[in-house]
Amino acid sequence: PRPILLTRHGESRDNVRGRIGGDNVLSDTGDIYGKKLANFVEKRLKSERAASIWTSTLQRTIITASPIAGFPKIQWRALDEINAGVCDGMTYEEIKKNMPEEYESRKKDKLRYRYPRGESYLDVIQRLEPVIIELERQRAPVVVISHQAVLRALYAYFADRPLKEIPHIEMPLHTIIEIQMGVTGVQEKRYKLMD
Ligand code: G3H
Repeated sequence: PRPILLTRHGESRDNVRGRIGGDNVLSDTGDIYGKKLANFVEKRLKSERAASIWTSTLQRTIITASPIAGFPKIQWRALDEINAGVCDGMTYEEIKKNMPEEYESRKKDKLRYRYPRGESYLDVIQRLEPVIIELERQRAPVVVISHQAVLRALYAYFADRPLKEIPHIEMPLHTIIEIQMGVTGVQEKRYKLMD
């Protein structure tokens, strides 16, 4: 069975400052993760000539993928991070302070809450449908380099986790989740590449 490897981009400069959204580059730590990931992928998929690397259209995933050599790379807009609308570029502290009603409604129902002029988790889940269809069709391994909210939704699909859990699934940085779909069901391995 062919694996699907899921990972977030390496730590971005906005991650360091606690800012959500944006289209920033990686921190030095994030750049190191890109190199470690390349090393891992090149070894793990050495004889897999038809494998491919899928990223979002945001810099932080494209830069994370850039050290990986030998596989085609495909950019999907559907893999872009949840659109935080008017809150894009803010920290959670700033949202809480400047837009307390928004902060509270999201806390109450994170799955359905839609950022003003942005998206909800349900919106993200819906736009991922073509990606999931394409992932299911692939016979070769795929490395998906994307974002926290998007990967929560993708992971929940393959790991068969309930909808209401999706916004709360732990999705750490610098960790690869390998999913294998076999006849006996789904198997999962995790590789933490940095401390
Ligand atoms: O920038 C957005 C975050 O990656 C999504 O995290 O849905 O837990 O706020 P959150």
